[in-house]
Amino acid sequence: MRWTVSAAATVASTYALDAFAAAAGALVVMSGVLAGLSHGWVVVVLVGSYVLWALGLRTNLRANGALLAATGTSTNVLSKAAYDLTRRFARSERAPRVAAAVGYAGTEVIKELPYYAAAFGAAAATEAITGADALVFLAGANLGAAVYEYGLGRLTSWFLRRRFASFERDWVPGRYLTDYYSTVEPDELATIAFLVDALRHADRDQPILFFGVGPTMHHVFAAADVASEIHLGDYLPSNLAELQRWIDRAPDAHDWRPFVSYTLRCEGVSEPTEDEVTLREDLTRKKITDLIQVDAHHRHPVNRRYATVISPYCADSATDNLTTWRQLMRNITDLVEPGGLFVTAALHQCAGYTVGDRRFPSANVSEDDLRAALRPDFDRSNEVIEVHSTNQDATHGYGGVLLCHARKHQPPER
Ligand SMILES: C[S@@+](CC[C@H](N)C(=O)[O-])C[C@H]1O[C@@H](n2cnc3c(N)ncnc32)[C@H](O)[C@@H]1O
Repeated sequence: MRWTVSAAATVASTYALDAFAAAAGALVVMSGVLAGLSHGWVVVVLVGSYVLWALGLRTNLRANGALLAATGTSTNVLSKAAYDLTRRFARSERAPRVAAAVGYAGTEVIKELPYYAAAFGAAAATEAITGADALVFLAGANLGAAVYEYGLGRLTSWFLRRRFASFERDWVPGRYLTDYYSTVEPDELATIAFLVDALRHADRDQPILFFGVGPTMHHVFAAADVASEIHLGDYLPSNLAELQRWIDRAPDAHDWRPFVSYTLRCEGVSEPTEDEVTLREDLTRKKITDLIQVDAHHRHPVNRRYATVISPYCADSATDNLTTWRQLMRNITDLVEPGGLFVTAALHQCAGYTVGDRRFPSANVSEDDLRAALRPDFDRSNEVIEVHSTNQDATHGYGGVLLCHARKHQPPER
């Protein structure tokens, strides 16, 4: 679907650019506005037109990068191919965007060639068109292309702002914490209780990876007693910085104590004291040994595997597309060792959730989708999937959550 949309947009955009640029070139020649300029001045105008074209293209390249990040589509298929390929293998957030820009700009430069051929071919073929006319035509065509690229870039940005919030542009960690973690809400009452229970099945004294942890600590406390060390991974450096502030006991770091207290209750402590909460916070700080920037689009987002991987509300909250969600799930679940435990959670059949006044995508995941995403690598007989109704439609945009833990198959004995 994304390829079809991108291919259609590429064809439409190529024809529109050609028509617009050619018309602008012809108009400038016919209007005679540059007639009478010396050859030197015509060259100066031509160089200036290239500068404007490059500026217009820069606006469009930025918008195209944001469009790819938010929707996986582009107005240039080559740019999409470069983006998708680089995202699978590069670890940095920037590399796929640079590849997309190179792919896009490369095609736009190639599209210039027919203009040179047409302009200088016409000048060579007929006395009526001079070499100066050819240069003026090219300058006009460049100006038309500049206006077109700038306009397409602005239109793309406008569309994106209206339809999707993007993590790169719109995610505000503090806003997310205020909206979702000021108190322990129904989804987290269910998720933390489930997580505590799931971790009873985890191998003790092994490193645990939290994948897509965001700026949040509320799930991590349950792992502190089980893990030898804890690695926290997220896509956004701003989320990792927020976690670091909590680890460093920054005075304005988020207060997770109500969540620690609830975790201890789920573990069986009937009335956790302030000291018990502090002890668990301290143990958690001690166990966190690594903050890692990860991208679930990458085929191998982390270069090792774990006996336990915990990834609640990450893959489903990173895309509105079920096919992409499956790919992200595959990349995340591949990080679980054979025989290891995977714990996940997703918004149940939800198309989007709100943070502040922005709506972020959700992949509309059902129980069956989740079950299918675990095949063939996970053991069906060792799998728990629950749907909990949480009735948070009015506040956050979803009415329930899916909770799951599953064990990966052991490799066959030889
Ligand atoms: C809704 S938040 C959930 C955060 C946390 N797990 C929680 O339960 O509150 C979704 C998280 O997915 C992360 N994310 C988005 N795209 C990602 C990607 N491509 N790879 C890894 N994480 C990503 C975001 O940075 C964000 O922290």
